[in-house]
Amino acid sequence: MLIIRPFSFSDLDSVLQIESQSFPKSPYDWTTFLNLHYLYPETFLVCVNANHDRDEEIFGYIVFSRDGHIISIAVHLQHRRKGIATRLLQRAMKTPHLTKVWAEVRRSNHGAQAFYSKMGFQITGVIPNYYGNEDALIIQRALV
Ligand SMILES: CC(C)(COP(=O)(O)OP(=O)(O)OC[C@H]1O[C@@H](n2cnc3c(N)ncnc32)[C@H](O)[C@@H]1OP(=O)(O)O)[C@@H](O)C(=O)NCCC(=O)NCCS
Repeated sequence: MLIIRPFSFSDLDSVLQIESQSFPKSPYDWTTFLNLHYLYPETFLVCVNANHDRDEEIFGYIVFSRDGHIISIAVHLQHRRKGIATRLLQRAMKTPHLTKVWAEVRRSNHGAQAFYSKMGFQITGVIPNYYGNEDALIIQRALV
């Protein structure tokens, strides 16, 4: 059974593993995740496979700010294309009082761009050299 719940300290190792697979050029380190947990205790969420007969397994995570900035979203390599990120983002978009959600994406990250496009996001801007030598696309979706 898949559940989405707030991040807790015991998730840190699994989240770091997903992070290093997902962002090999610039992974967040453990201090960054602990800061994110401190700053966003209610909107740093993990998607967990919670079966009674097995240990919990972290499949993915999302962290976003109260005003809808998606700071990071990533899914374990072995569990991609199963709808995990869709569930995490749908949960984020249900947050009361949000009027929009947005994120920065590397210009070369075509997989993430395809994902966000499927989720109804549009490109609204570009930040030159946001990632050092690579531009960020700003992608955004208005919420009704
Ligand atoms: C982007 C990412 C979060 C998507 O997670 P996911 O759980 O595999 O996504 P979903 O299964 O919910 O995908 C939903 C739809 O998005 C699209 N999509 C997702 N990943 C895609 C990819 N790599 N290439 C093309 N389309 C993709 C597809 O339309 C997919 O539906 P389908 O599988 O029925 O074709 C995941 O690939 C990831 O962790 N990437 C590395 C981290 C990253 O780039 N994060 C975003 C940074 S801003």
